[in-house]
Amino acid sequence: MRVPFLDLKTQYLTIKDDVKRAIDEVCEATAFAGGPFVERFEKDFAAFCGSKYCVGVGNGTDAIWLALLGLGIGEGDEVITAPSTFVATAEAISFAGADPVFVDIEPDTCNMNPKILEYAITPRTKAVIPVHLFGQPADMDPILEIAKKHNLAVLEDACQAHGALYKGRQAGTMGIAGCFSFYPGKNLGAFGEAGAVVTDNEELAKKIKVLRDHGQPQKYHHDVIGWNGRMDGIQGAVLSVKLRHLDKWNEARRANAKKYNQLLAGVSGIRLPVEKDYARHVYHLYAVRDPKRNALMAYLNDRGVATGIHYPVPLHMTKAYAYLNHKTGSFPVAELAASEFVSLPMYPELTGEQIEYVCQCIKEFHSK
Ligand SMILES: Cc1ncc(COP(=O)(O)O)c(C=O)c1O
Repeated sequence: MRVPFLDLKTQYLTIKDDVKRAIDEVCEATAFAGGPFVERFEKDFAAFCGSKYCVGVGNGTDAIWLALLGLGIGEGDEVITAPSTFVATAEAISFAGADPVFVDIEPDTCNMNPKILEYAITPRTKAVIPVHLFGQPADMDPILEIAKKHNLAVLEDACQAHGALYKGRQAGTMGIAGCFSFYPGKNLGAFGEAGAVVTDNEELAKKIKVLRDHGQPQKYHHDVIGWNGRMDGIQGAVLSVKLRHLDKWNEARRANAKKYNQLLAGVSGIRLPVEKDYARHVYHLYAVRDPKRNALMAYLNDRGVATGIHYPVPLHMTKAYAYLNHKTGSFPVAELAASEFVSLPMYPELTGEQIEYVCQCIKEFHSK
């Protein structure tokens, strides 16, 4: 049996007619950059999240970067985030002109550890970016409380957490703004690059709208130095179609995670993902931990099962962030996790037989 890590084609076939019709409408209207299809998706996604505003942008990295710029964060400022994330979280901070400051993660959820957050705050700190890693919201209440105490903005990196809940609240709606990626493999994925910022703050939404469009509130009237960070019309149209299926797809991911959990329970050597009582985890990734992960990955690969590592190098150990002068041991929980993470195949259309096969291979590996 072959089990791919991700299977976008199978999902596409289930919505092919609607997607083709939506793309055709954009072509007929020649509304390719921004425009009515993006506006419609912005309305749809704001309603889905329960936010007042949604601003569609080019990708998730743009979403975080433009939100930081909109908040007035820049040179000389520090922004706190976790070292266990995709590099884009830190890149956005860097491209805003600020410095990323890392806070180690909780050993079970692998999200930012609120218990040690306060130690990282300095007079230069302006914002905190909790990342809802793998689709499980970070423990937001203590983070929001600490941020409030120190007058810091909280920007959520919800790029992996479309539809995830924290104590019933939608990921992306608890801080001043939430940033989403619609990269094709995400729980809500475009047919190319796309992203969005959701917020209840009208002023921030307006600023991001202007920044994503060359700083022009009105065509060719450039009030600030902006950028081209618009969303494509085709992406907006496709995303509106796909959004209608998101809840169902997230439920399917959750059912798949449950099946993995049941079948892998008690396998010694494997640590399963922990879903907190406060969370509705949407399993963008199903990442287990295994000290023998490289051998396990090779074993699975030989048996037709594709896996991934998210992420092999915590950000403070990357060459890109060597200038921050961290060393091995600076964030020990993140470092250990990075050496053990292995993501198993996870997508809504994954079948029960495929999950059984993957688990059987893992059990074989660990019984040797
Ligand atoms: C946690 C996280 N932050 C930011 C991003 C950046 O999103 P994009 O690839 O759309 O720029 C991603 C996705 O790739 C992500 O997973």
